[in-house]
Amino acid sequence: MNYRHAYHAGNFADCMKHALLVSLIGSFLRKPTPFMVLDTHAGIGRYDLRCEEAEKTQEWRTGIGLLTEEGPDSPLAPWLDLVRKAGGPEIYPGSPLLVSMMLREHDHLICCEKHPEDKRRLYGIFTRTPNVTVHERDGYEALRALLPPQTAKRGLVLIDPPFEEPNEFARLENAVQTIQARFSNGMIAIWYPIKHRTPVRAFHMALQDAGVRDILAAELLMRPPVDPDHLNGSGLLVIKPPFGFAEQAKAQLERLKTRLNAHEWSVTQIVPE
Ligand SMILES: C[S@@+](CC[C@H](N)C(=O)[O-])C[C@H]1O[C@@H](n2cnc3c(N)ncnc32)[C@H](O)[C@@H]1O
Repeated sequence: MNYRHAYHAGNFADCMKHALLVSLIGSFLRKPTPFMVLDTHAGIGRYDLRCEEAEKTQEWRTGIGLLTEEGPDSPLAPWLDLVRKAGGPEIYPGSPLLVSMMLREHDHLICCEKHPEDKRRLYGIFTRTPNVTVHERDGYEALRALLPPQTAKRGLVLIDPPFEEPNEFARLENAVQTIQARFSNGMIAIWYPIKHRTPVRAFHMALQDAGVRDILAAELLMRPPVDPDHLNGSGLLVIKPPFGFAEQAKAQLERLKTRLNAHEWSVTQIVPE
């Protein structure tokens, strides 16, 4: 548990993950029926980019720091509006805060955060928000306890692990199987790092071999993924993506590529419905 997201908040990987996440949540808002979001690795929810950790890496400067001029017509606008509302660009909202800002009264967000100090800070944000629940627990273990959701028949499981463990991709494969066994119509979004191609390809293949259907991968590369010691890009794997998401993702990633001076992007349906 050495990973601290405060060092990385607002970097290019956060920007792509959060812009796409806002599109996924937006798809649930098209229908009046309630939805639930389970954020298994939630972080602290709100990041002050003037803090010591962010100052040290300055990663946000090549991420959210380059997006302050985006206008209302940008495909990134729905997400950037929420960033501004949360106090951005100095205060950067993480996944739980973004999701909570989009919930209606009858929707529900459940957050898991294993680090006690991070959980305490996250809990502090939501003390007066009745439809957000915060647990200090292992996000993978929580899948069995918290699914299927009690408050809604539809929803999203977001898995955004720190990739500190060498077997993280294998844990993700197991997590997908657990989720699908307990919440078969649930949407799943998984963030992953792209250092080099081999482990990412193996992860995609393993899900395909396990019989998982309807998988889309959205990826943004800052550099060619040839140096395995660097975070060269990142991906968001979406299982059961909503109608129209691929087109939204393409527009958002093209905009991020231009603004962040990235190398390339892709949106690929890895396995059909
Ligand atoms: C990449 S950060 C999450 C960022 C957050 N999802 C966001 O987008 O704002 C990963 C978080 O997972 C927490 N964590 C690590 N292992 C965990 C586990 N097994 N279960 C739950 N949380 C865990 C870390 O403390 C860290 O805060």
